[in-house]
Amino acid sequence: MADASTTLAPTPRARVQEMKEYHPPLGSRAALRLDFNENTLECSPRVRETLAQISAGALTRYPEREPVEAIVAAHLGLHAEQVALTNGVDEAIHVLFETFLDADDEVLMPVPTYTMYEVYASATDARVVAVQAGDDLQFPFDRLMAAITSKTKVIAIANPNSPSGSVATREQLLLLATRAPQAVLLVDEAYFHFYGETLMDLVGTLPNLVVARTFSKAYGLAGLRLGLLAGPVELMRWVRRVLSPYSVNSLALACLPPALEDTAYLNWYVAEVLAARTEFEAALDAAGVRRWPSRTNFVLVEIGARHAEFVCLMRDAGVLVRDRSNDPGCDGRVRITIGTRAQMKQAVTALNNALAMLRAEGGKL
Ligand SMILES: Cc1ncc(COP(=O)(O)O)c(C=O)c1O
Repeated sequence: MADASTTLAPTPRARVQEMKEYHPPLGSRAALRLDFNENTLECSPRVRETLAQISAGALTRYPEREPVEAIVAAHLGLHAEQVALTNGVDEAIHVLFETFLDADDEVLMPVPTYTMYEVYASATDARVVAVQAGDDLQFPFDRLMAAITSKTKVIAIANPNSPSGSVATREQLLLLATRAPQAVLLVDEAYFHFYGETLMDLVGTLPNLVVARTFSKAYGLAGLRLGLLAGPVELMRWVRRVLSPYSVNSLALACLPPALEDTAYLNWYVAEVLAARTEFEAALDAAGVRRWPSRTNFVLVEIGARHAEFVCLMRDAGVLVRDRSNDPGCDGRVRITIGTRAQMKQAVTALNNALAMLRAEGGKL
């Protein structure tokens, strides 16, 4: 008789078996980090001071999120019940999809876009309906509107979008929300601070609008894992049933109020990045590199067939950039995060050297 322990093994759900593995290239990043759209410098010094004051005893307690949710809600001009803090926007996406997507539902998204939408959608039993952007990578509004069906239960829009840097207008987002009242419209404003436009003011006025924000980008707190979801109380009640009450840890909760208060630091960093982006875009134009218009802290550029060599040459020069060639419609394209002006000078030197090497080796890139 066969030993049951050798023939029987736990098997994941069929959908999980079909999922692709996703391993972001996070290893050995001791270089200029222009690969993950993080703040490339540091967080507010007030956050640093808060961390230094946390006692060992404080760590023995479970985190209490409600008081901080109330502070964040007030900061956004919302009611506390409309806001849920999350372990990064990634948890917000995961929980939202788990809350609203059933078997045979459809989750609609333009592509290319933020990878984790597809990762979390494919872990549910819903169907991903991906609408490809054209070569200009602009928001494919008409095609998204046409792809809405009665089964559409979530529409996920990063605004601005990654890796393209493109944006959807307020009017377009409102039309999507109105066309699909049975669906949650997730507007992921991870890059809001570099863009400046928002739908946060409409939270609670539209029954199906949910806005996400992260503290990983402009605030420089990617390591703390802090994000939020803001939506109508009725929807947020369902979300809270699925959301862990403890997923935002007490260090992150302690650091959030000082991070919000230090608007001088935030404004300085954003202004620095926007100035650096203008200079970097000029350098790209001078080098004859095609780029897509960006409203964010990164720029997508066309390197062509030798994209992998380009990324290696940049790494050899101490600058990490992100090959997006595996994203739909992005073959040969590389995303470069914008840091400070001084950092981007280093990036320009590395870029010009890498291009010169590739061009010297002959022909087209
Ligand atoms: C559009 C978008 N949303 C969310 C995230 C991740 O946010 P968080 O670090 O809060 O999980 C990213 C990170 O790159 C992103 O590009």
